Amino acid sequence: MHKTELIVALDADTLKSAEHLIEKMEGRVKYFKVGSVLFTAAGPAAVDLVHKHGGKVFLDLKFHDIPNTVKHAVKQAAAMGVYSVSLHLSGGGDMLKACAELEKRPKLWGITVLTSFDEYSLFRSGFRGGIDKTVKLLASLGLANGADGVVCSPLEAWRLKEMFDGKLKLITPGIRPEARGDDQKRAVTPAAARAAGADFIVVGRPIIAAQDPGAAAARILEDLK
Ligand code: C5P
Repeated sequence: MHKTELIVALDADTLKSAEHLIEKMEGRVKYFKVGSVLFTAAGPAAVDLVHKHGGKVFLDLKFHDIPNTVKHAVKQAAAMGVYSVSLHLSGGGDMLKACAELEKRPKLWGITVLTSFDEYSLFRSGFRGGIDKTVKLLASLGLANGADGVVCSPLEAWRLKEMFDGKLKLITPGIRPEARGDDQKRAVTPAAARAAGADFIVVGRPIIAAQDPGAAAARILEDLK
């Protein structure tokens, strides 16, 4: 069976608390997500921090802008040495293509439909095709324009696996070892995400808000075996 890697979302607001979290997981977790919270607070120092501890960075800034701007942002991310970056697939094929053509670049992971959306909120945002159809359309657009992977809910992952096996990596946030009743509306357990074909799962609060983040990460890694 394929391997599912754990990415821990370092949604901390200071470098100090991010480092504290990394230290709790040292030796266990290889991939860390630096997103808009930590990057806005600390900038490239957050990326350096993960590298200093031997980790790999998923820079999750969800780029969505005109092709030239996003291309140059991805170029800067490449210079920082990150493993992967996220961009909204709804930013369009030209935006993706401009990034994919860069000579030296991180992996491009395209956001399909955020896991905080349900059918009603997606409809209210102007996407009239429904979650399933929108996710498939955006993933096809990603593949056609050079994306290396797509970010989706584990609930959609098994279908994308069928459609794009071996062509697109699947990255799934919205992971909940147990129900929390928060803003993640399309969430499943780590084992279910793995069974659905996820190559990477992204986990934030179930680990970083746990009393013992190291133990919480270890339990999830066990679940992924
Ligand atoms: O705390 P939680 O496990 O919900 O964290 C999930 C992380 O993954 C957050 O940092 C969020 O920004 C990110 N993410 C997401 N849904 C996506 C893409 C990224 O929840 N589609």
